[in-house]
Amino acid sequence: MGIQWRDSLAIGVKSIDDQHKELLARFDKLLNACESGKGIEELKRLLLFLEDYVQTHFNDEEALQKLHRYPGYAEHREQHVYFVSKIKDLRAETDKDGFSLHNVIETNNLLLKWLLNHISKVDTKLGAFINSGTP
Ligand SMILES: [Fe+2]
Repeated sequence: MGIQWRDSLAIGVKSIDDQHKELLARFDKLLNACESGKGIEELKRLLLFLEDYVQTHFNDEEALQKLHRYPGYAEHREQHVYFVSKIKDLRAETDKDGFSLHNVIETNNLLLKWLLNHISKVDTKLGAFINSGTP
């Protein structure tokens, strides 16, 4: 188990790639915690971290899109809004009911799958646009 950064995920914008690396490292930490029976506490920690970090990360990405007058801005932002609301919902659930290990694994899969899909399909498009030198 575990999740590793791979070069195919790079979008070619260093500041954004670095943030993506940090995000994946946090998910890796959760996966490792699951293996040592500490998944539930680590999930709570991850959700708290994500609430802040993801917001900053998405703001940075969106600022970059505005700066480059990226035509896919609205669509891209919509995806970010969805993910932020998902994290908030999950945190509200864990605060209220707590989580079983089964939920931890499902939640992790859901968040991680979304993130990897978003980076490899949506963010790479943005990176290609920026690096194409289109004003
Ligand atoms: Fe994005």
